[in-house]
Amino acid sequence: MADDRKADLNPTAASTLAALADTTTVLLKGVVLPVPALPSEPEVESAAGSHPAAGAALGPSGAVERTAIGEPIYDRAARDDIQGNIIPGFNKDHQQFLFLRFGTAESARRWCGGIAPSLASMHEVLSFRREFRAQRLALGVREPGMRASWVSVAFSHRGISTLAGRRQADEFGEQSFRQGLAERSTFLGDPSDPAHPGHRDNWVVGGPGTEADALVIAAADRPADLDATVAEIRRTATDHGMELLFEQRGQTLPGNLQGHEHFGFKDGISQPGIRGAQSALPGDELTPRYLAETDPRAQLFAKPGQPLIWPGQVLLGEPRQDPLDPAVASPAATNFPDWARRGSYLVCRRLRQDVVAFWDFAATLAAELDTSPVRAAAILVGRWPSGAPLSRCPDRDDAVLAGDEFANNHFLFDDATRGAVLVPITGYPGDSHTAADQDILGRVCPPAAHIRKMNPRDGATDFGSPADTLMRLMLRRGIPFGEPLAGVPDPSPELLAAERGLLFAAYAATIEDQFEFVTRRWANSAVQPNVGGHDPIIGQRERRDGRSRTIDLPTAAGGARTHRLDREWVVPTGGGYFFAPPISAVAGVLAGIER
Ligand code: HEM
Repeated sequence: MADDRKADLNPTAASTLAALADTTTVLLKGVVLPVPALPSEPEVESAAGSHPAAGAALGPSGAVERTAIGEPIYDRAARDDIQGNIIPGFNKDHQQFLFLRFGTAESARRWCGGIAPSLASMHEVLSFRREFRAQRLALGVREPGMRASWVSVAFSHRGISTLAGRRQADEFGEQSFRQGLAERSTFLGDPSDPAHPGHRDNWVVGGPGTEADALVIAAADRPADLDATVAEIRRTATDHGMELLFEQRGQTLPGNLQGHEHFGFKDGISQPGIRGAQSALPGDELTPRYLAETDPRAQLFAKPGQPLIWPGQVLLGEPRQDPLDPAVASPAATNFPDWARRGSYLVCRRLRQDVVAFWDFAATLAAELDTSPVRAAAILVGRWPSGAPLSRCPDRDDAVLAGDEFANNHFLFDDATRGAVLVPITGYPGDSHTAADQDILGRVCPPAAHIRKMNPRDGATDFGSPADTLMRLMLRRGIPFGEPLAGVPDPSPELLAAERGLLFAAYAATIEDQFEFVTRRWANSAVQPNVGGHDPIIGQRERRDGRSRTIDLPTAAGGARTHRLDREWVVPTGGGYFFAPPISAVAGVLAGIER
C-alpha cells in the first residue's frame, strides 16, 4: 500500500510538494495598532460558578445597550459568559479534540459543574488576542512569546437530552442538530456506499453507534501545556464514568507552513468580523475597525475585505443579518431554550486529505493548462500557498501581499478593488499592491475555486444578492491533524501512507442555513451559486455513475473547458453536530442546578 502511494506521486508533483517548504510570507513589522484610551471597567466575579444569567449589558430601562450605530454591547458579565472559542476564537497552534460519551446522567451533570470554571470565556481570549496581535504586528514575528491554555465544550442533542432532559433538547429549532451529523451525512453528499471509506459506518467517531455526547476542545501555545490540560480533562472524565470515544491532536504545520493546511495553503485568512462592542467607547469593538469614517464602507467592513456580520449569525438570540440591508439588524431568533442564549452551534468534521492525489491532479491539470502545478492548485483554491489571493496576483505568488493583513483579503469578484481609506496606523506603509480587476466571468479566479464557492462576496448568486451571502458566513476554527507531507523532501513510504487532514470546526447560529447550505447548495453543485463546476476541494457528488466532479476553467481562446475530477482528496471520516452553550448554562442548568 505504502509503495503504491509513492508510485502515485508523479515526479513533478513530488518536487512541487517538497518545494512548498520554501513558501514565504513577509509579515508586517513595526506596525502600531491604534488603541483607544479606555477607562478601567469595574471587575466582576468571573468564576463560572457565579456567572450571572446571559443577557447582561442592560441599560437603566432594561433594554440592551447599543453603540452609536446600534450594535449590541457585551459588558464584562456577558463576555464572561460567552465561550472564547466562538468569539474571538482560540487560534492556537496546538489543540486536542476529545469526543466523550456520558455514563449516568447524574455523574455527567457533576462533570459539567466541574468543567465550567475551566472554560475560557470571550473576555479572557479577547484580552489575550488584542495584546498578541498588537505585539505580532509591532515585532513582525508570528509568535511574540505569549502563552495560554484554553478549554471549550459543546454538546450534541444526545448529550443535552441526558443533561437537561429530552424536552429541553427538543426545544432547539434546528432539525439538523436534533438528527445529528451521521443522519445528515448522505444529505451532505457523503458517500452512500458502505464500502467507501467516507461512509458514516466507517467513521472513527460520530457514525452510527459512536456519536459523542460532548466535544471538548483544548488549546495551547506549547505541546507540553496542552498535554497537561488534556491529562486533566481525561482524568476528570474517567472519574465521572465517561468514555473517551476518540481523541485527535491537531497542530499547525511546521516552519514556513505554520498556519497552512495539509495541501500547503495558508488557511484562516478570511473570517467575517462580528458586530458588537465591549463598551460604547469608539475603538472598543469586538472586531477592530480600521476603515476611516470618511470611507463609506466603514459601516460594512471591519478592515478591507472583512465584512461585518451581526452577532446573531453566530450567537443564538442576538440581532441577526437583514436579508436585504447589511447595515441594519433583523430581530433575534427565539427557537431555542432560554438558557441557550449566546451559545452557538458547532459543526465538527474530521476530513481526511489525500495530499498525493491532490498534487497529482494539480500536476496533470498544470500540463493541460500549460502552467505550473502551484498555479494550477492555486486556481482550485483561489489563493496561492502563501495565502495571497489569485484575484490580486494572477500570475505568481506574492509573499508581501500575503503577509499584509490589510490587503490580503481586500478584493471582490464582480467589482475591481477600490482603495480603502484607513484610520491612521503607525508604521503601515499602505496597500500599494496591484488591485484586483473586475472578474465577473471568473477568468482569473474561477467560479469553482474553493474560496469563490464558499464566499461569492459581491457576486449575485442563485439565491440572491450579496446581502444574502453574508447570511451564509461562519466562524471557522479548524486545525490540521496528522504528520505533514507538504514541504518534506523525499518522503518515506510510511509518511506517504500516513493519515492526515483537517479537523474542520465552525460556529454558526444555524447549521442548516449556513454550513449545510454552502455544502449542499454550493460546494456540491456544478451550477450554483454560479455556473462553473463543483468545489474542487470539498464538493461531493453522488450519482449512480460514480462520484466524479467537474470544474470549468477558462481557455486561452476565450471559452471554457470542463475538466473531470475522478479522484477524491477530501473524505469525511468523523465528527458531529454540537451546541456550545454559554458558560452560565454549563455551570447551571446542564449541571442540574437551576438558577
Ligand atoms: C480539507 C478541507 C478543506 C481545506 C483544505 C480548505 C482550505 C481552505 C483554504 C486554503 C482557504 C483559504 C484561506 C482563507 O481564506 O481562510 C479556505 C477558505 C475557506 N473555506 Fe475551506 N477548506 C476545507 C474545508 C472547508 C469546509 C468543509 C468549509 C465549509 C463547509 C470551508 C469553508 C471555507 C470558507 C467559508 C472559506 C473562506 C472564503 C472567503 O471568505 O474567502 N472550507 N479553505
